[in-house]
Amino acid sequence: MKTYLVTGGAGFIGSNYIHYMFKKYGDTIHIINVDCLTYAGNLENLKDIEDKENYTFIKADICDGERMIQIFEENDIDRVVHFAAESHVDRSIKNPDVFVKTNVLGTLNMLNAAKNAWELPDGTFKEGKKFLHVSTDEVYGSLTEDGGYFYETTPYAPHSPYSASKASSDMLVKAYMDTYHFPANITNCSNNYGPYQFPEKLIPLIINNALHGKKLPVYGDGKNVRDWLYVEDHAKGIDMVQEKGRLFETYNIGGHNEKQNIEIIHIILDTLQEMLPEGDPRKALVSEDLITYVEDRKGHDRRYAIAPDKIKAEVGWYPETCFAEGIRKTIKWYFEHEDWMDRITSGDYQKYYEDMYSHR
Ligand code: NAD
Ligand code: DAU
Repeated sequence: MKTYLVTGGAGFIGSNYIHYMFKKYGDTIHIINVDCLTYAGNLENLKDIEDKENYTFIKADICDGERMIQIFEENDIDRVVHFAAESHVDRSIKNPDVFVKTNVLGTLNMLNAAKNAWELPDGTFKEGKKFLHVSTDEVYGSLTEDGGYFYETTPYAPHSPYSASKASSDMLVKAYMDTYHFPANITNCSNNYGPYQFPEKLIPLIINNALHGKKLPVYGDGKNVRDWLYVEDHAKGIDMVQEKGRLFETYNIGGHNEKQNIEIIHIILDTLQEMLPEGDPRKALVSEDLITYVEDRKGHDRRYAIAPDKIKAEVGWYPETCFAEGIRKTIKWYFEHEDWMDRITSGDYQKYYEDMYSHR
């Protein structure tokens, strides 16, 4: 049985990845989820698998290097999938320090802990051990409206404190691969959307605000472009890279699904109108009149667009869920999980650990 150490598994993509992996591999894998539960960590995302014998949650901070070494000493880890990070660009503009601490120093701790556990006396690494660092397309900077795509060879040019911290973490992983021949991969993915996404990010924020008749804030002219990928396709891509990709390589993950922010907002409004049943009081609240142009994000990157050619050619990955289908699945999920959203907006979700876990 392979043992996975997943960092940040209580967050949006990490929890979707854990669900995906159990669906795919069932009881043939053990997943250890290491998460310190920042505001973005929500154990309710994993409620339906928390009692599985082959799932373990450890509340720990990746900034605590000794604790990370200890976790590796207590468990024979085969795979690391490193999601844990501060992930929201707006927060990084207001408070960069925690981004450097978690994203850069936290990643260094993960690399050191894995190296410490996996390195043999002759400097080679134990057979079959693999580390996957989950990163972002934002490290490549910004494209112009008609300005091509991000390839794995595109030079790094981050602009926000978030993307600069992720770029630094990528550089550390590259340095460990080059210096120690440390067995790793890096994936750089475009914008994800889907179930369990924290409502500070564009898509869940717009869905939630529209359903409550609240303003829909559009930064700048609303024409910034993001390349949207359904989160389960990202989870699948990570697994395929780790199992089929060439070690020491970087793979971009994205689905050629570029859309302007304002287009996304109109699609969400139209889809909500279409999916809400007649007589539902929320139908009257969902309206284009809620769209409100606000001050632009500082240093706002204009366009991101991934060229996924390498992962398609080498690993056979392609996105299965088109945007029209993915956004309907996402909206349906938010309809069916209103209580999940209510507990986030009230802050109650942060009590889940104390209520359900701390006595275990
Ligand atoms: P998220 O903010 O939803 O979740 C982050 C998780 O990490 C949370 O559970 C949080 O509690 C945990 N965490 C934060 N600091 C920690 C620490 N010091 N120790 C332990 N756990 C800690 O993030 P997400 O959107 O799921 O993103 C996950 C990863 O994927 C990040 O590395 C991000 O850079 C990357 N990524 C995200 C996207 C996207 O669109 N969301 C796209 C590409 C790459
Ligand atoms: O590209 C991958 C990245 O995507 C990830 O690395 C990040 O972790 C993730 O947060 C995401 O970053 P973005 O900044 O692109 O996502 P966000 O949802 O914050 O914003 C998407 C776009 O929408 C962006 O152009 C800013 C705009 N926006 C966002 C919010 C929250 C608005 O216009 N209004 C808003 O209220």
